Amino acid sequence: MSPSSPPEHSVPRPLPGPFRGAVVIGGTHGLGRELALGARDRGLRTVVYGRSAAPLDDTDGLLARPLDLCDPQSVRSAPVDVPTPCYVLWVAGAFLKKTLAETTEDEVEQLTRLLLTGPVLFLRRLLAEAGGPVHLITIASSSSWKRRERETLYCGLKAAQAAFVRNLVPELTAAHPENRITLVNPGGLAVPDFHTGLALDFGAMMDPGRVAEIIWDIAAGQRRAFTEVQILRSREPGSEGTPEVSYGARLPETPDEPAPATTAGAASPHPIQHH
Ligand SMILES: NC(=O)c1ccc[n+]([C@@H]2O[C@H](COP(=O)([O-])OP(=O)(O)OC[C@H]3O[C@@H](n4cnc5c(N)ncnc54)[C@H](OP(=O)(O)O)[C@@H]3O)[C@@H](O)[C@H]2O)c1
Repeated sequence: MSPSSPPEHSVPRPLPGPFRGAVVIGGTHGLGRELALGARDRGLRTVVYGRSAAPLDDTDGLLARPLDLCDPQSVRSAPVDVPTPCYVLWVAGAFLKKTLAETTEDEVEQLTRLLLTGPVLFLRRLLAEAGGPVHLITIASSSSWKRRERETLYCGLKAAQAAFVRNLVPELTAAHPENRITLVNPGGLAVPDFHTGLALDFGAMMDPGRVAEIIWDIAAGQRRAFTEVQILRSREPGSEGTPEVSYGARLPETPDEPAPATTAGAASPHPIQHH
């Protein structure tokens, strides 16, 4: 399907299907919080996990559960009794704008735990507890396939997240025929806390509340076991930051390379290889 501007909806409709609950890993702030509020507004009993989720805090009708994905003990012991059947949303994340040479050993360890190993280990517990049917909605990023600079580790981990859930599809559908997975690759969101320290034009980035509405509409209409969707911001003058939705995976962009030497006799930068 080609890129298109999604329709506006103001009043959320109840979601079709058997689901009674939603569980948002990283549902305390930003896009995760908007997704959690959208789940609540659609009549789902909604649990949010995050470091800042206070136990017994029931603000806004969300059930808050503390979880630190960078702490293996927290990942092992945070309660996973959840309302079933349920949506499970993998949203938690943080950004890192550094070259690999600038990245410390501790940053490699912590970001890998936050973006990959922590959620994978937590999902392993959560999915076993939730049984089925379950609908897993994963927020990766357009950074999983776009050419970026000084985002080596972040992009690598987002690509790993996307590859992980694509390959989880046969396992989940074998476990329960009505299980579903939605893989979402958003572009830049107007979430200043995520981009701490970077001077960005947030007026040209996507509103996380609007993106959350689009994601719930896509999930509500999904009939196939797996859907991958790109939600990218328009760069058109006058509509900068408007979300544009397109379906399917994107080929990873190739990295920029220095211009090849043109001097006669210079060695080719791309020697022909035979496989
Ligand atoms: N913002 C963008 O431009 C953008 C673009 C594409 C994709 N994304 C992806 O979208 C997702 C949400 O990002 P956002 O912009 O909404 O960022 P955000 O506002 O900073 O929210 C991040 C969420 O992750 C949780 N989190 C962070 N560290 C955690 C930890 N150690 N343990 C458990 N939870 C943790 C936070 O909760 P606590 O602070 O309570 O722990 C918070 O709920 C991320 O996966 C991000 O990679 C963002």
